[in-house]
Amino acid sequence: MFERQWWLSLVFFAMFFTGCDQTKKVKWTIQSPDTNISLSFEVNEQGLYYQAAYKEQQVVSPSKLGFLLTDMPAMKEGFQVLDYSLKSVDETWELPWGEKREIQNNYSELIVELKETEGLYRQLNLVFRVFNDGIGFRYIFPEQQNLTDFIIADELTEINLTADYDSWSVQAYQPDRYEYLYEKHRLSELKDTVHTPLTMVNKSNGLALSVHEANLTDYASMTLYTEGSTKLKCDLVPWANGVKVYAKTPFDTPWRTIQIADKATELITSDLILNLNEPCQLDDIDWIKPAKYIGIWWEMHIDKSTWGPGPRHGANTANVKKYMDFAADNGFQGVLVEGWNEGWDGPWWQNGDVFSFTKPYPDFDIAEITTYGQSKGVGLIGHHETGAGVSNYESQLDDAMAFYNQHGVAYVKTGYVNGEGMNKKEWHHSQYGVRHYRKVAEVAAKNKIMICAHEPIKATGIRRTFPNMMTREGARGQEFNAWGPDGGNPPNHEPTLVFTRMLAGPMDFTPGIFDISLPSKANNQVNTTLAKQLALYVTLYSPLQMAADLPENYENQPAFQFIKDVVVDWDDTKALNGEVGEFVTIARKDRNSENWFLGSLTNEKSRDLHIDLSFLDKGKKYKAEIYADGVDAHFKKNPLSINIYNRLVTSETAMDIYLAEGGGAAIFFKLIED
Ligand code: NOJ
Ligand code: CA
Repeated sequence: MFERQWWLSLVFFAMFFTGCDQTKKVKWTIQSPDTNISLSFEVNEQGLYYQAAYKEQQVVSPSKLGFLLTDMPAMKEGFQVLDYSLKSVDETWELPWGEKREIQNNYSELIVELKETEGLYRQLNLVFRVFNDGIGFRYIFPEQQNLTDFIIADELTEINLTADYDSWSVQAYQPDRYEYLYEKHRLSELKDTVHTPLTMVNKSNGLALSVHEANLTDYASMTLYTEGSTKLKCDLVPWANGVKVYAKTPFDTPWRTIQIADKATELITSDLILNLNEPCQLDDIDWIKPAKYIGIWWEMHIDKSTWGPGPRHGANTANVKKYMDFAADNGFQGVLVEGWNEGWDGPWWQNGDVFSFTKPYPDFDIAEITTYGQSKGVGLIGHHETGAGVSNYESQLDDAMAFYNQHGVAYVKTGYVNGEGMNKKEWHHSQYGVRHYRKVAEVAAKNKIMICAHEPIKATGIRRTFPNMMTREGARGQEFNAWGPDGGNPPNHEPTLVFTRMLAGPMDFTPGIFDISLPSKANNQVNTTLAKQLALYVTLYSPLQMAADLPENYENQPAFQFIKDVVVDWDDTKALNGEVGEFVTIARKDRNSENWFLGSLTNEKSRDLHIDLSFLDKGKKYKAEIYADGVDAHFKKNPLSINIYNRLVTSETAMDIYLAEGGGAAIFFKLIED
C-alpha cells in the first residue's frame, strides 16, 4: 500500500479536546485526492454531524449520525473525542473478472474514536473515506465492557441534501422485493420508503448522486425515506419481531455511500462500492470464470413446458441433451435447467418447505446429462428454487452444493420467490436474509460453485470478497415481458436500470429474446426492437449472460452472430452518453483480445446518435459489425427490422446511428491485424 502525507488535501480544525470529560465542539474536514469533494465531521453538544461539499457547493448539509438501542440509552450524543487519525491511500488492485481489470483505490480517511462522557462510557468510532467519486462512512463499535451483545432499534443516519433532486427508485416493503418499475419523483415528493441504490439528478445543473451501501455483511439493508423534505433518513429493514439488527462487539456497520458526479453517466463507471469491500477471501479462484449460457427456462415462462412433472415437463433428459447440442454448436459454456428436482408440483412458490435439492425427478438423469455435457464441453447449470423456504434450504445446503459439485456442476442459480417473505415471515432484505445469502455464497465457495441469485439481496460489492458471488437479479428482468403486469417492461425500463440497479453490481437480466411478439401470450410482448435485445449484452453488465430464447428462435437468424461474438469479461468500460430513463451508450473492451463492443439503448423515443469512436485504441483499424434498427423499426409495430452491416473504422471515426422507438444498437469492433 502506497501512503503519503495528504497535507495538500486535508484541512484539520479542532478545538482543544484532549483530556476533557465533557463534549466540546470538535470539527475536522478532509478532502478527496482531487480536492473536489470535502467532508466535515463535527462532534458537538447536540451530537454527531457530517456534511459534504462538491466543487465548493454544499451538497449535504449537517446530517445526524447515531443509534437507538433496545433496553439501553441511545448512542447519539454526549461523546468526547479519545483520538483521531488521518491517512491517505493510493493503490490499485485487480478484479478477477468484471467491467474493468484495474481498480484505483484512492482516498483520504479520517477515523475518530469517541467515548461517552458519562453513564456507560461506551465507545463508538466513525470512519470516513473521501474518494474522487464520492464518500463512504461506517460506524465501528469496538470491543468493550459495557457493550457486548446489543440490539439496534434504529440507525439515525441522515443525508440532508441541499437540493430537491429528481430521483428514481423502487418502493421497499413490497411482496415482489425489488421487482417493480422505477418511479421518478422529486425527493420532497417521495411518498414511500425506497430501496437503494437511490439515483438522483439535480435538474438545474445535472449533478448526479447515488446513495447506497457497501459491504452489507451482517446487518439489515438500508432503505430511505424523506417525509416531504430533501433530507433522506435511514430505515433499517427489521426482523419479523421488530428487531433491526442483532449485534455483538466488535462490530462494524456496512458503509453508507454517496457517489457524486458532474453527470449521471459518470456514476456508471464509479468503483467506490467495490473499493469499500474487503479484498478476496478465497485462496484459490482459478475455477471462477465468466460464461455465456442458455437454458430450459424461457419455455416455462411462455408456457411451452412446465417446471412441475407431467407430460410437458421441460427438465427431461432428452430436452436437456438437445439444449446441450445447441450450446456446444454455438459456443455457450452452460445449460441452465429449472424444474429438475422434487417439489415443483402445483403452485411451486408455496413449496418452500418441500423442495428437495438432491432428488431429481425420474425423467431427469443427472449422471447421463452431465456425462453427455462433459463430452461436448458444456456444463449443466444447477438451480435451487427455494420458494423462500430458507430453513428447508439451509438444512440441505451442504448436501445440495456437494451433490452438484459431485456431478461437475460449477454454476448454481438460486431463487426465493414468495410474496410472504423468507419462511413466510422474514423480509428478504432483513439481517436474517443478509445472513442467509452470505451463507449460501460461502458454502458454494467451499464446493467450488459460482452463484447467480434471483430474488437476491441487493448487490453491495461482496463479489470483491467472494468472487464466486457472480451475478444476481434484484430488479424486473426479462421474465416480466412474458407474464408481468403492464404488458411487460416499458421501453424506458432498461435505460433506467443502467443508472439505478446496475450501479450496485452485475445483473442477470437474461437478454436475447428474438421472438419478440410472444405468440403464446395475449397480453404481453417484449417491448424492444431486436437490435435493442443485442445492445443489452453490453449495457447491462453480467459475468454470466444468458441467451434467453428457445434455441429454435435463433436458427437462421443473422443477428444471433452478435450473441455468439459478444464477450462477458472486460478490460475496460466507458459510458459514452446517456440520461436516466432516456438513453445510454456504453463501450467495453474485451479482457482477452483487442476487440471492443458497444451497446446503445433508447426509451420510447427515437434518436439520432452521434458517437465518436475515440475510445478505440489509437492507430488501430477495426471492422465494425453493426446491428442497428431499420429505418422502419419500432418496438411495437416492427420490432424485427434490423440493419446488419460492416464498416472499417479507427479511433478517428465518428458514427451516426439511428435508434428507433424502443430501439438500440450493438456493435462489435473487431481488430484488423496488420
Ligand atoms: C424467479 C426467477 O427470477 C426466474 O428466473 C425463475 O425461472 C423462477 N423464479 C422459478 O425459479
Ligand atoms: Ca424474479
